[in-house]
Order: sequence, then structure tokens, then C-alpha cells
Amino acid sequence: MATTLPVSSGIVARYVPGESTAEVIETVASLQAHGLRTSVDHLGEDTLDLDQAEATVRAYEEVLAASAEHGLAADGEVSVKLTAVGLALADGERVALENARRICRAARNAGSVVTIDMEDHTTTDVTLEIVQALRADFPDTGAVIQAYLHRSEDDCRALAVAGSRVRLCKGAYAEPETVAYTDRHQVDLAYVRCLRVLMQGGGHPMVATHDPRMVAIGTALARAAGRAPGSYEFQMLYGIRPQEQRRLVSEGETMRVYVPYGHEWYGYLMRRLAERPQNLSLFVKSLVAK
Ligand code: FDA
Repeated sequence: MATTLPVSSGIVARYVPGESTAEVIETVASLQAHGLRTSVDHLGEDTLDLDQAEATVRAYEEVLAASAEHGLAADGEVSVKLTAVGLALADGERVALENARRICRAARNAGSVVTIDMEDHTTTDVTLEIVQALRADFPDTGAVIQAYLHRSEDDCRALAVAGSRVRLCKGAYAEPETVAYTDRHQVDLAYVRCLRVLMQGGGHPMVATHDPRMVAIGTALARAAGRAPGSYEFQMLYGIRPQEQRRLVSEGETMRVYVPYGHEWYGYLMRRLAERPQNLSLFVKSLVAK
């Protein structure tokens, strides 16, 4: 869904630094200049239009080529939602896999890598299957696991193997109790269980959270597992706890910032507001000030 509220509006700009390739490249350059790594997300999801899926692939190809041109590809990666590249279409699995392959190829040509975002629970199986298929040709392709799903500890065990990159997040979709923990404390406990599995395993854990307790536990579990700096990383979203992002870098940790850009910011912003309802009043003020 595209809306007309300009991305320059206060609350939108806090989470989405721009709409164009040039704007996101400028943001990535500035973050990397401060020692942060980056993951660029071209906003959009749930497309039912083949042309729109094609446009998304081209946007990724363009941003990856621009990253290489500006020397930003090695410390950058891209994050891709499969429903943005066709998963919801008829024959969606084939279309999404083929489109994701093209993005992986563009990333390889640029000297970068791809992580496949995780969406609502109806897409978990097919997303993990597509990641596995991509990894046959592009072994660096990262997966995302949402700690709130009951299944996730098992998924972490299956993915905690040498060469595998796994981003662990709490999970951002409104899921039913039949498949997910809905109590925050239960989600936190599940996050720690999953993190322990990943840190003790052979892969590269990517600890995606702004929660200070999870960051501290992540550091402690990495030490307990005898992990060297760089064999795991922290990740946060653009605009959330920027000082903490830099503090972790100054302590020698690897920190990657997820940078979304583009016109289709609505679904992304709504998930951020749901995580922090006090931001809703800022959003309403942006609408009124328009
Ligand atoms: P929690 O929500 O408990 O927040 C902890 C603290 O962080 C808060 O007290 C506050 O200080 C701060 N904070 C959190 N959210 C904030 C906000 N919106 N605005 C301001 N402050 C905020 N989800 C998913 O389902 N699929 C995916 O592929 C991804 N990908 C992803 C990548 C990366 C790099 C990150 C960091 C996160 C995701 N997520 C995601 C989102 C994730 O599942 C989760 O919804 C958010 O990270 C919020 O959870 P926290 O772990 O930060 O904890």
C-alpha cells in the first residue's frame, strides 16, 4: 500500500531515511563511516502484481550496484521479503525463488550477501524451504527466525550449522496463540533459549533486538560459547537506539543497522508503532501537520 504522507514527515523519517536509491546510499555511507554495518530493505510486501515484483527485483539490483560503486557492499547486505518478490502470486513459490535468486546473483556480483526476512507464520515453511534452495548456490544467504513461534527452537537447532547465517528476532506480526507465545515474558524466555542454541552451534548468529537485557545475554552467551568477536553480530533497526548501536561498536562488537527505504513504508511503520504505542501520537500529529 503506498500512501501520500511524505517520507520526510517526522515519525516516518525516524524509521525510514528516504525513498530513493541515492538517499539510502547516502544513509548507508554515513552509518558505515561510523563503523556500523548495514542491511538495506526495499520496502514493500504482499504484492499481487507481477510487474511490482519485477520492479522490486530491479530496485535491489540497482541498490546493490550502487553499493559496489560507492565501496559499501562488503559491509552491507540486503534484506528481502519474499512476498515483495511474488510469493503471494499464483505459482508464487516458483516466482519468489527465481526473483530471490536474481537478487542473490546481483549481491554476489556486488560483493555482498542477502538475508531473507521472515513474515507471518503462514509463510514460515515455504520461506525456510526457499532459503535452503538459495543456499545451494549462494551459501551465504541468511535466514530469519522469530523467537515467538513455538517451533523456533527446533528451527534454530536445524540451522545452527557451519556456514549458516541466522538472524534471531522476537517477531513482529500479530500471531494466534496456537502458533506463538503472546505473553512478552514468554517471548523473552523463548528468545534466550533460541539464542543459546545459536551461540552454541556452528553458524553465525545475528542477534536482532533493541532489548538491553537480550543484548547483555547475547554478549554473555557468546563469551560462554568461546566465540571470537566477528563470529556473531548484533542488529538493530534504523532510528531505534542509535546511541546504543554506536556504543556496541565502540566496545568491539559487530553491529548491523537495518535500513528500509522506498515509498511502501506503511506496513513497516505500523509494525514499529505497534511495538511502541507511545509513538502513535507522533504519527497522528504528522498526519494533522500535513
Ligand atoms: P522489544 O519490543 O521488547 O523492545 C525492547 C526495547 O527496544 C523497548 O523497550 C524500546 O526501548 C526499544 N524499541 C523497540 N521497538 C521500538 C520502536 N518501534 N520504537 C522505539 N523503540 C523501540 N521481525 C519479523 O517478524 N521478521 C523479520 O524478518 C524481522 N527482521 C528484523 C531485523 C532486525 C535487524 C531487527 C532489529 C528486527 C527485526 N524484526 C523482524 C522485528 C522484531 O521481530 C521485533 O518486532 C522488534 O525488533 C522489536 O523487538 P525487540 O527485540 O527490540 O524488543
